[in-house]
Amino acid sequence: MPRTLIEPFRIKSVEPIRMTTRAEREACLENAHLNVFKLRAEDVLIDWLTDSGTGAMSSKQWAAIMEGDESYAGARSYFRLEAVVRDITGMTNFIPTHQGRAAERLLFGAVCKSGDLVPNNSHFDTTRANLEKLDVEAVDLVIAEGRQPSLSHPFKGNIDLARVEALLIAQGARIPFGMLTVTNNTGGGQPVSMANIRAYAALLKRYGKPLIMDVCRFSENAMFIKMREPEYANTPIKAIVQEMFSYADGATMSSKKDGMVNMGGFIVLRDDRWVETLRNDLVLTEGFPTYGGLAGRDLEALAVGLEEGMQEDYLRYRLRTAEYLGEKLDAAGIGFVKPTGGHAVYIDARSVLPAMPQQHYPAWALCNALYLEGGIRGVEVGSVMFGKRLADGTETYHNMELVRLAFPRRMYTQAHFDYAAEVMADLKQHAGAVRGVRIVKQPRLLRHFTCEMAWA
Ligand code: F0G
Repeated sequence: MPRTLIEPFRIKSVEPIRMTTRAEREACLENAHLNVFKLRAEDVLIDWLTDSGTGAMSSKQWAAIMEGDESYAGARSYFRLEAVVRDITGMTNFIPTHQGRAAERLLFGAVCKSGDLVPNNSHFDTTRANLEKLDVEAVDLVIAEGRQPSLSHPFKGNIDLARVEALLIAQGARIPFGMLTVTNNTGGGQPVSMANIRAYAALLKRYGKPLIMDVCRFSENAMFIKMREPEYANTPIKAIVQEMFSYADGATMSSKKDGMVNMGGFIVLRDDRWVETLRNDLVLTEGFPTYGGLAGRDLEALAVGLEEGMQEDYLRYRLRTAEYLGEKLDAAGIGFVKPTGGHAVYIDARSVLPAMPQQHYPAWALCNALYLEGGIRGVEVGSVMFGKRLADGTETYHNMELVRLAFPRRMYTQAHFDYAAEVMADLKQHAGAVRGVRIVKQPRLLRHFTCEMAWA
């Protein structure tokens, strides 16, 4: 048997990408105030800023788009998608939204009150922000192994059940529900095991609390379960997914990930208690309950995408791409969060720039260098993203300096990954030439998106 795991598709439609010269990239980055978020996408060769909403749709999805029923109320496309979602999740209440954070805002708005507390393995930024906006405390309780980048563990996304129970005992009255993010994006795209999901749900149930899952990457999580949890080795992905959902009372979804579409999200709920409030709020800000901020064609593409995202040959290839890049980084002596996650590789900038002081933002510097060197765009997950400037003008720093390279689905081929690995190995050789940065201008919140930098 040949050992190379090939892309399980052929390409029907192509989109050119443009190689720029080093001089052009220098000018582009200067114009962007040394912040890759401010680059024009067409000046980027390989865009690994995010896997969210950036993937390629299949010919079946494009065909489904023509079937979109754009009726304001009761559209056929809604009922088609609802049937698919019900089959996968086993939940009767389906509420479409325009993306994941809208689902979060609606659900939290209906269920949480000021002073509440929500445990999770790790809250994604928007999840945390939507809770904190309501004065709800968002507590991250991932297992200790999940916080050590170089340590390998099959399920680094697992939630620490002992710490959850301690919180339920001490602060139970403040907890409206428990959350669990699959895969754990903030912790490196790491999976949660079925055993952990099952035990967490049972624990919450003993204390009368529902489990709400953040299921953006549920298919990737299911594939990890199949590969790493022995009793599931012969279980079909869809059955694993259905079992994962069977432990939850509800879920929020960003369809821009494992939904395989460019825009969309939803809420599902097993029982009816919050549904009326949610649908009323939905009409106010998203749209009528049968489209929730989306076009009929979006609902059709998602109905097909959800099923395609669960195909095993696709998932095997998907997880292999990240692992493959990891092997090449290892060979070049570049550190990263281990094992590689489902949708991304998180490079440890300190392994490339060990001498750069933290006040020169090494992960940001590496991000810029990847663009200058090879036209590759990633995201800093370090002290610009998580540090703060205090009132007295001093800066706080993050404990890790990572660069996330997140892979759009079905979009880049093995040659793109080989190219990126070469760029990184070259960079490591010439690390002395990589320049640090300082912040010249920053907003108060979420500064990484819009801050302006200068060379340190
Ligand atoms: N939950 C998780 C775990 C996410 O990764 C995201 C988005 C959201 C919720 C919000 O969904 O973008 O549709 O509103 N993550 C993207 C990323 C933005 O780049 O990781 P959304």
